[in-house]
Amino acid sequence: MTEITIDSDRLYRSIEELGAVGSYRDDVAGCDGVRRVALTDEDASGRRQVVAWMREAGLDVSVDAIGNVFASRSGREPELAPVMVGSHIDSVPTGGAFDGALGVLGGLEIVRALAAADVMTRRPIVVAFFTEEEGCRFGTDMLGSAVATGRIALDAAYEITDAAGKSVGGELERIGFRGDEPVGQRRPHAFVECHIEQGPVLAHGGEQVGVVTGVQGISWFELSLTGHSAHAGTTPTSFRKDAGLCAARINVALRDLVDSGVHGDLRATMGVHRPHPGVVNVVPGRCVATVDLRNPDDAAMAAAERDFRALLEERARADGVDIDCRQTARTAMVPFDDRVQDVIEESATARGYSHRRILSGAGHDAQEWARVCPTAMIFVPGEHDGISHNPRELSTPAQCARGVQVQCDTVVMLAEEG
Ligand code: HGY
Ligand code: MN
Ligand code: MN
Repeated sequence: MTEITIDSDRLYRSIEELGAVGSYRDDVAGCDGVRRVALTDEDASGRRQVVAWMREAGLDVSVDAIGNVFASRSGREPELAPVMVGSHIDSVPTGGAFDGALGVLGGLEIVRALAAADVMTRRPIVVAFFTEEEGCRFGTDMLGSAVATGRIALDAAYEITDAAGKSVGGELERIGFRGDEPVGQRRPHAFVECHIEQGPVLAHGGEQVGVVTGVQGISWFELSLTGHSAHAGTTPTSFRKDAGLCAARINVALRDLVDSGVHGDLRATMGVHRPHPGVVNVVPGRCVATVDLRNPDDAAMAAAERDFRALLEERARADGVDIDCRQTARTAMVPFDDRVQDVIEESATARGYSHRRILSGAGHDAQEWARVCPTAMIFVPGEHDGISHNPRELSTPAQCARGVQVQCDTVVMLAEEG
């Protein structure tokens, strides 16, 4: 098989160009960030830009009913199941240019490099991006991939609403990405995703590439706390039912649970903490908060969830606050395919890149596709301790190119399999 070499400059230019879509000035970070929250106008602009590039690359583009986009390049044996690559282009509100985009534009670069070398692989290749991977607008992560692989029903997904009451189905319609292709029919031969690590492990270890072994467990909750609002000046402590304070105490108790180490590598985050009415002289009568738990060990995660629910009951009693707890996302630890990991490792070794096996701390579309086909991921390191979900997120051209080159070699190898 001809050796296919990706074009590092073209790859990085496309990442920078897409990063300009939904760009904003972040004065806290002191640089421009990316804000392309799922199904907003900015996300729609990014989607249209990538679809245009896919068509320019000669790919056949299809959109499914949950807004996932699949761009196909035929193979010598077009009836064989394709090798799929891809990720997401939606971002968190304080995002960077690489989270998700590297995996989509890296896939596009692979098919551009194949075309430039005039090489047609045995199997077709599909480059995809998926809807609402971040989960931060509609409250559940990897939504598009979960619907495409059968974990979440399409009708249920359509009805999910954001904080303003806008539904997934309505927003897909509004931006013109509620596609005709039925969901759940695609079963690739294999799925390979390239993504930034979003953490410090590769950077600190000095490895150039990560061979991802799987994704740790994820458990999200939305809390609605109800006490009663009261005058900040006249209400003695003993008369208060302070929903904001109760949520804050839950947050501190979660950090104590993490620091205790009783649940292994547990991570806990209260990303949303919205007291109501949120004015200076009123004791908050209501508060909406979210809790994000992560754990690489399923048994430890289940024990942590039990402790979390017991904590809610204790705080509700002690603070005189009613707490409604709704689970909004739950995925167990997902192991990736050993053979695909080995092909990635062989590719990195053949290229002379230092590498290591690594478990993903972040959720990814690949963890959904692992349910329906042999799947694994490639990580690239990032600068500034691999910071991510922050505008300072940055991987260098060389870091990105090594990851996508390994992905290219892996995809070409998998696409020649019978
Ligand atoms: O939350 C996550 O792990 C991913 O960024 N969606
Ligand atoms: Mn991501
Ligand atoms: Mn992310």
